[in-house]
Amino acid sequence: MSQIIAPQTDKPNMPPYEEVYRNFDWKEVEKNFSWHETGKVNMAYEAIDRHTETWRKNKVALYYSDAKRNEKYTFQDLKDLSNQFANVLRKIGVQKGERVFLFMPRSPEIYVSLLGTIKVGAIAGPLFEAFMEQAVRDRLENSDASALVTTPELLPRVPYKELPALKHIILVGDGEIPNDDGDTKFYIYQKEMNEASREAEIEWVDREDGLILHYTSGSTGKPKGVLHVHNAMIQHYQTAKWVLDLKEDDIFWCTADPGWVTGTSYGVFGPWLNGASNLIRGGRFSPDDWYATIEKHRVTVWLSAPTAFRRLMAAGDEKIKEYDLSSLRHILSVGEPLNAEVVHWGRRVYGLSIHDHWWMTETGGMLIANYPSMPIKPGSMGRAFPGIEVAILDNEGNEVPRGQMGSLCIKAGWPSMMRKIWKNEKKYNEYFQFPGWYISGDLATMDEEGYVWFQGRDDDVIMTSGERVGPFEVESKLVEHPAVAEAAVIGKPDPVRGEIIKAFVSLREGLEKSEELAEELKIFVRKGLAAHAAPREVEIRDSLPKTRSGKIMRRVLKAWELGLPTGDLSTMEE
Ligand code: WT7
Repeated sequence: MSQIIAPQTDKPNMPPYEEVYRNFDWKEVEKNFSWHETGKVNMAYEAIDRHTETWRKNKVALYYSDAKRNEKYTFQDLKDLSNQFANVLRKIGVQKGERVFLFMPRSPEIYVSLLGTIKVGAIAGPLFEAFMEQAVRDRLENSDASALVTTPELLPRVPYKELPALKHIILVGDGEIPNDDGDTKFYIYQKEMNEASREAEIEWVDREDGLILHYTSGSTGKPKGVLHVHNAMIQHYQTAKWVLDLKEDDIFWCTADPGWVTGTSYGVFGPWLNGASNLIRGGRFSPDDWYATIEKHRVTVWLSAPTAFRRLMAAGDEKIKEYDLSSLRHILSVGEPLNAEVVHWGRRVYGLSIHDHWWMTETGGMLIANYPSMPIKPGSMGRAFPGIEVAILDNEGNEVPRGQMGSLCIKAGWPSMMRKIWKNEKKYNEYFQFPGWYISGDLATMDEEGYVWFQGRDDDVIMTSGERVGPFEVESKLVEHPAVAEAAVIGKPDPVRGEIIKAFVSLREGLEKSEELAEELKIFVRKGLAAHAAPREVEIRDSLPKTRSGKIMRRVLKAWELGLPTGDLSTMEE
């Protein structure tokens, strides 16, 4: 029997769970927004401009800090700056519905560009700064992005001459505009901003119009562009209010980068829709830097990932005593399984339960959570958000008995559900093979009280240090190497990173395996795709297990690796 921990937050925003789950209606949430009556909607207006019509005008919306910068922006500042950026986009001719991509390290300019893009009704496409050329190319090509905001440092990774749709590149920071620019026009962000007016007309859009495109990975194929629409704000608003429990005086720190969905849904939209103060910290993870950040900014609500908590745990409890973390009142975790031990450790060292919750890029917002108003069970992801119906289904789409493992599915139609996989209707439809249900790809059990327990992925998707990596993308890169004939990539369990990426490769005729070659292949992926997608282990084999039709059997490699039974091998070739 699992342990139950009573809620410890004083006066949470969310009423007691059972009561609110029974009576909840998304239609009521819409009434918090004036578009409920006017029909005029734009996420950037609701997140920022609306607050400038109230006393929050001069409230700090964004605290930004990194090794070099330490800045504050009020809601009024963000309104003005995003208006300026909207005017820059209008001047260069960006229209509603076009894709504007953002590829840069964390900085205030990302948030300004993101809001400005949304203000003109364009679709924002954030890219994680660690992406290398292949990853950048795939995403810009698939989305036919017409504009890109990036930095001079990252520009060499953008093959703009081979991207005919990419007409405009806006450079943030000091640097030279390339001479040989082909058909792409270059602009200097600061210069354009200086010339732009602070007044801008908002492009009022339909609630079903495109807002943001986040690329994510599956088991097969190139990364998929998951499209979210303005209507998602209903979910962002209510989940941030109840799960993050944001209140007027909070300083909220979401450690996720805006290149990933957590960094936009809960690093931008959710908190600002609630008029909360957001802290963004640039730079890399280090236990000292993170604790110093909490201390210095008096962070009250902190959202991070299991990998970070495990690394903080590994850094030792002594470290915690060096910092004043007494401002913290609520801690949350998302993205991979949060082991019960980490929850118990958190209670011991921070005096607070770490609240696990569950969702995915495709779901746009939180769907299952441990709430501040509800007892939590360490090791469980929590219970369905009000208005959300969760079920564990078997392979035919029938509900399994409580406690039995099956496919984690959600009744389709919640406000922030993805609306499209960009240019890939077939992939989109694969998520909805059981009529009326969204299939997550996760395996889970549900107990008698509706708490959901994660059991693993139902496919070959890898979660490494909180980042989702599709094996196909890594394999495609590996086979580009002249020595590699075939490649298969799996996730291998790791105590700190959750999983690490392990690659199995076979070599071309006549080549000898060596340690040097294995090392070279790791670097090849690191430099060509992304550091987080590079295999930590490479095993060179004479051949890879395949089906008779020639498909490499990742599950067999994984079973061999883990010393587990291989299951049905009847389709394997001799
Ligand atoms: C996959 C989605 C949540 C946004 C960030 C990740 C895994 C997510 C949990 C959790 C165990 C989790 C699932 C899911 N996952 N939350 N609380 N416990 N696993 O979004 O990159 O789209 O990844 O992350 O496997 O399918 P994502």
